[in-house]
Amino acid sequence: MEKKTSNFSGQLGFVLAAAGSAVGVGNLWRFPYLAAKDGGGLFLIIYLVLVLTFGFTLLTSDIAIGRKTQKSAIGAYEEMHPKWKFLGVLTFLVPVLIMTYYAVIGGWITKYACVYLTGQASSAAQDDYFTSFITSPVSPVVFGLLFMAVTAFIVYKGVEGGIEKVSKFMMPVLLVLVVIIAIYSLTLKHEDADGNVRTGLQGFLYYITPHFEGLTVERFLQILLDAMSQLFFSLSVSMGIMITYGSYVKPEVDLNKSVSQVEFFDTGVALLAGVMIIPAVFVFSGTDGMGVGPSLMFVSLPKVFDAMGPAGTVVGVLFFISAIFATLTSCISVLESIVANCMEIFHTDRKKTTLVLALIYLAASAVIALGYSVFYFNVTLPNGSSAQLLDIMDYVSNSVMMPLIALLSTILIGWVKSPKYVADEMERGGYKFRRKRMYYVMIRYVAPVMMLVLFLQSTGLLSM
Ligand code: PFF
Repeated sequence: MEKKTSNFSGQLGFVLAAAGSAVGVGNLWRFPYLAAKDGGGLFLIIYLVLVLTFGFTLLTSDIAIGRKTQKSAIGAYEEMHPKWKFLGVLTFLVPVLIMTYYAVIGGWITKYACVYLTGQASSAAQDDYFTSFITSPVSPVVFGLLFMAVTAFIVYKGVEGGIEKVSKFMMPVLLVLVVIIAIYSLTLKHEDADGNVRTGLQGFLYYITPHFEGLTVERFLQILLDAMSQLFFSLSVSMGIMITYGSYVKPEVDLNKSVSQVEFFDTGVALLAGVMIIPAVFVFSGTDGMGVGPSLMFVSLPKVFDAMGPAGTVVGVLFFISAIFATLTSCISVLESIVANCMEIFHTDRKKTTLVLALIYLAASAVIALGYSVFYFNVTLPNGSSAQLLDIMDYVSNSVMMPLIALLSTILIGWVKSPKYVADEMERGGYKFRRKRMYYVMIRYVAPVMMLVLFLQSTGLLSM
């Protein structure tokens, strides 16, 4: 086994960096939307069960494979089984695609942070503000490139001196900011034009109460699939990122504890994001006000912040700063996994590799940022939704490749190799692999079936 030259300093550094990768826009703009749409508490219960079973299985596998092989996806899968190198290549391609647009989204968030910092909360709440921003050929490119450059700079500084340092600062601050906004959200109260008063507490109850009305088998399955796809996007698994981060973990670190802590952090921030967003949207716009993805963050929330009056500017600043931290720590993990794979393939050093990749992705980000103006076009995806350049990249990487990779990796570990391969790594240093029996059942039987169904559904081959 080749000796790694860069490592996280210890368990805390690793957990915060991995949590930094896991906590991203998915937690902030997708989780609350899904919870509101999929029956509130019902979705929460299903999600929590999946985190502890399915999420645990995939996260454990990725991190253990990384530490065991001391390599990134391509080298790691090749070392596990030379014939399965293709799976490493497929896995490597996910961050390669994601990187083209992640910094663009980071740029949008940075732009909104600036808007709130300069006190323009009411302009941001205008109906066409977001559309006119992203369709401009200059501003989204400038902010996207800025975000990309900062990401590259952190990766250039290395694992401990860059990624770990930034994560150790940003993740605790992010947690504090999210808690502050969540508490504020619970105290809100508003009377609409018809004299109806809605409170944050009512919104909170709407969020956590399981809604069983109209629950059919199809709807239950739909909720299950929503929760599953959210989960592994959220944990950054099946894209090689956790393999790369796992390869930087020192042998004496207890992986069992680390996996639980990463899951806890990621799920905690997702749940808190719900407390932060759902009551606020509920108070000012009722239950129909929730958007998903960009429309939640850049259209619905600015209206809510505006309705808060002067406090809305402060809340907007805190919210978009926490969103920058969440996105930046995810973005660096995406670039890091590409850099790490390239360093292993081409035997180059970190600085040179990062510089070359930074140039490539600055160009790619500019193209994607222009996907709403200069390079605008529209296609319909197999799942029926209409998409631009950014959505296409997102669809291919998240809906097609990730479930396929997860499926193949469970087959490789569960059947071709052996779950013992992962279990041995979890027990290295005399630690107890606490959920070992469940891991074996999940990786061999349950996860492959679930992944197959998810793959068929998200590619439109199976409709429900
Ligand atoms: N896990 C991040 C989130 O939930 O937003 C998203 C993410 C991070 C996706 C890193 C992809 C990635 F490579």
